Amino acid sequence: MVATVVSTKITNSQETLIIQNPKLGLSLCGNISIPGDKSISHRALMLGAIAQGQTNIQGLLLGADPYSTAGCFSLLGANISQLNSEFVQVDGVGLLNLTEPSCVLDCGNSGTTMRLMLGILASHPEHFFTVTGDSSLVQRPMSRVIQPLTEMGAQIWGRKGNSLAPLAIQGQKLRPIHYYSPIASAQVKSCILLAGLMAEGKTTITEPALSRDHSERMLKAFGAEIQVDPETNSVTVTGPAQLKGQDVVVPGDISSAAFWLVAAAIVPGSELVIENVGVNSTRTGILEVLERMEVDIRQENHRVVAGEPVADLRVCYSSLKACEISGSIIPRLIDEIPILAVAAMFAEGTTVIRDAAELRVKESDRLAVMATQLQKLGAKIIELPDGLEITGGVSITGTDVESNGDHRVAMSLAIAALNATGITNIHHAETVNISYPSFVQTLQQVCTSNIN
Ligand code: S3P
Repeated sequence: MVATVVSTKITNSQETLIIQNPKLGLSLCGNISIPGDKSISHRALMLGAIAQGQTNIQGLLLGADPYSTAGCFSLLGANISQLNSEFVQVDGVGLLNLTEPSCVLDCGNSGTTMRLMLGILASHPEHFFTVTGDSSLVQRPMSRVIQPLTEMGAQIWGRKGNSLAPLAIQGQKLRPIHYYSPIASAQVKSCILLAGLMAEGKTTITEPALSRDHSERMLKAFGAEIQVDPETNSVTVTGPAQLKGQDVVVPGDISSAAFWLVAAAIVPGSELVIENVGVNSTRTGILEVLERMEVDIRQENHRVVAGEPVADLRVCYSSLKACEISGSIIPRLIDEIPILAVAAMFAEGTTVIRDAAELRVKESDRLAVMATQLQKLGAKIIELPDGLEITGGVSITGTDVESNGDHRVAMSLAIAALNATGITNIHHAETVNISYPSFVQTLQQVCTSNIN
């Protein structure tokens, strides 16, 4: 049988992703490769730009978010080769040598670009910078980094009591601090560590739970003096640092792999192998939760590539069980909650997600948006102040749903639609370009080759 499961329609540069369930015989099988890790891609570009000498990046994510970082750092004086191949070269300017652009630095949709870059810009004395972002980013809280940077001596102005972009930064010589962050956020941690590179002495950040540690790993590899205290979730950087350009290999993004892990787990008869996935333990909360939900997942070919653990992930259709997701695992799967909500729709029992209020200040209010959109498909889902409650086993029906301009919402809805009867139209699906430009192609690949 030949059936078109996945198609797209473009109207006025807005893309609608159309998923039509073929009723019988859809199973997802084969090997998939996924794009480079977004967090590591941003960090490789930024550290490359402020290091001395050349950085060669292999496997960079060619998505809109890293383009924003590359665009900003090119304007700040780093020489970054064309982002049209996964091999990218950055000629760094060296620490404190960025130039002051005469235009506004546009971070697009990327919170990581804005928050991490602020740590670097704030520490450039005698330089004045302005930064902004798209309609989503200018609503996202920046005080979480502005407040500790101000304690370090930074001067930053913004809307709503210096808490929202557009922002203006008058660079200063910063002093080291010990900052106790009220939230477990790798963006906050990384911002402070980057600012600490240029402050004389020891800058420490302590967080309430461990967030992703890519900055610590990469800063060490670039030659910074970094101490990690796992008992207290603290990281210390000693400034002023000397960074030297490196060869960076970016593993596949587990946050992108997550869509295929759940797709194979919920679509009957599926078996997928997702190759070359970064399995850093600060990111593998999704694997632990899916295992608790009794999904058949295996890590194969485990290896370490350029300081990051990597594996191929084999996942098979499973009979899922509900579970509770809360506490210190949340930062280790923060970006995977939308797709875990989809997994929960097909699990036996009620899954409760708590301690996830941070989702309200992501690219969209992911708790509200996921609850509203999955309800349209017929899911039994309740929005909680800090999470979601999803009762599985309800049959779902295709309809019109809306990404709200959020890439992870669009992709999660597409995976849910694979199990809906009829046709699902996902509006504003072009947003997948933020982190996963080849998502639709891969979806077409796994869907068309396996209809029997
Ligand atoms: C990121 C950290 C996380 C994550 C974001 C990327 C990073 O944000 O949600 O997609 O690269 O440091 P928070 O630090 O705000 O939790």
